[in-house]
Amino acid sequence: MGFFSDRVVPPRAAAPTPTPTARPTVLPVVGQPPKGVAEEGERSNRYESAPPRFRLEDVILPGGARSQVESLVGKIEHHQTLYEQWGLGAIDPGGRRVAINLFGPPGSGKTMCAEGIAARLGRPILTVNYAELESKYVGETPKNIVAAFAAARQSEAVLFFDEADSILGRRLTSVTQSADHGVNVSRSVMLLQMDRFEGVVVFATNLAKNYDGAFVRRILGHVEIPLPDRAGRERLGARFLVASLPRAEEVTPAWLAEITDGLSGGEMLQLVIGAATRAVQRAGDARRVTRDDLAAEERASRAARRAVGLDAATTVHEEVHTPTPAELAALRAKAGLSAGERPIEQDEAAS
Ligand SMILES: Nc1ncnc2c1ncn2[C@@H]1O[C@H](COP(=O)(O)OP(=O)(O)OP(=O)(O)O)[C@@H](O)[C@H]1O
Ligand SMILES: [Mg+2]
Repeated sequence: MGFFSDRVVPPRAAAPTPTPTARPTVLPVVGQPPKGVAEEGERSNRYESAPPRFRLEDVILPGGARSQVESLVGKIEHHQTLYEQWGLGAIDPGGRRVAINLFGPPGSGKTMCAEGIAARLGRPILTVNYAELESKYVGETPKNIVAAFAAARQSEAVLFFDEADSILGRRLTSVTQSADHGVNVSRSVMLLQMDRFEGVVVFATNLAKNYDGAFVRRILGHVEIPLPDRAGRERLGARFLVASLPRAEEVTPAWLAEITDGLSGGEMLQLVIGAATRAVQRAGDARRVTRDDLAAEERASRAARRAVGLDAATTVHEEVHTPTPAELAALRAKAGLSAGERPIEQDEAAS
C-alpha cells in the first residue's frame, strides 16, 4: 500500500452494493497456482482474437447512445489525422486516450456493441473476462494482463475487457494485506499497459460507481447502454420474431414490446427462444408460438429477475451512475490535473 497517491481505501466495513448482475465479488486467492500453469508463450496463446460477430448497425440503441458511440468511433478512426497530421496533439496532449467504457444493465447489448465497434474499425476483437482474470491467483493477474495486451498488439485487435467493474470502480479492499497488494499491482500494470498500447480498449461494466480517477483520465468516453425503451423493444421484437418462426397472428413485435417493459434485449431473446421451445413440443395446428407461450416466458423471466434482486426498479435508472462533468473535474483536480493536461503517473513504477 502507499504507492498510489490517488487510491482511496474505503472503510473495510462497507459491504459492496450488490450489482444488478448478482455476480459474486471474487477476491483474489493467495496461494500458489496449480502445477502446469502456463509459461509465457503459452500464456499469450490463451488470448485469441476473433472476427467480430456483430456490426455496429446490428445493435439496437436509443438515439443518444448511438450518436455517442458513433462519435467516439469517429474520433478513433480519424485519430491519426486529427492528432498528428492536423496537429491537435499540441493543444490536447491528453487526446491519445482511446478507451471506451460501455456501461449498463445486464443483457442490454454491451458485448454486442463492443463487437460492433471492432467491426466498424475493421479489427478483430480480443475479449478478456476481467472478473475471471482477476479472481484467480495473486501474481498471475498482472502477467495475464500483460499477455492479453501483447496478444492484442500482435493481432491488432480491439482489446475488450468484459465485466471490468472492479478495475474501473474503486474496488473494496480485500481481507489480507497480500491480496490487497495483488490488486494494486494489477491496477498499476493495467494503467501502464493502457498507456503503452497503441490500439483501442473497450471496457464493459454493469455498474462502476466511484470511478477510479486514473482510469477515468484514460477513457475517451463513457456510454450508457440502457435497457430498451418501447420503440427499442419493438425493433428487438421485429428482429427476434424471425419470419420462419411459426406464430399466431396476434403475436406481433408491438405486442411483445408491450409485455416486456423493463426487460433487456438479452431477456427478450431468451423469452422468444423459450416460447418457441414450448410450441415446438406440440403437434398439428398448435405447433406455433402463441401469446400464452410468450406470456408464460415473460412471467418466468420477471420471477427470475426478482429472485436475483434485479427488477425494473433497481436497474439503470436508480443504480447506474455516470460521472457528471463536475465529478470528472473533481476527479481530475484530486489527481492534480488541470483541464487538458496529460496525466503523468508516478505510481506505475511499481510494476
Ligand atoms: N441493444 C441490443 N440490440 C440488439 N440485440 C440485443 C441488444 N441487447 C441485447 N441483444 C440481444 O441479446 C444478446 C445478449 O446481449 P449482450 O451479451 O450484448 O448483452 P450485455 O449487455 O453484454 O450483457 P451482460 O452484461 O450480461 O454481459 C445479444 O447477443 C443480442 O442477441
Ligand atoms: Mg456482455
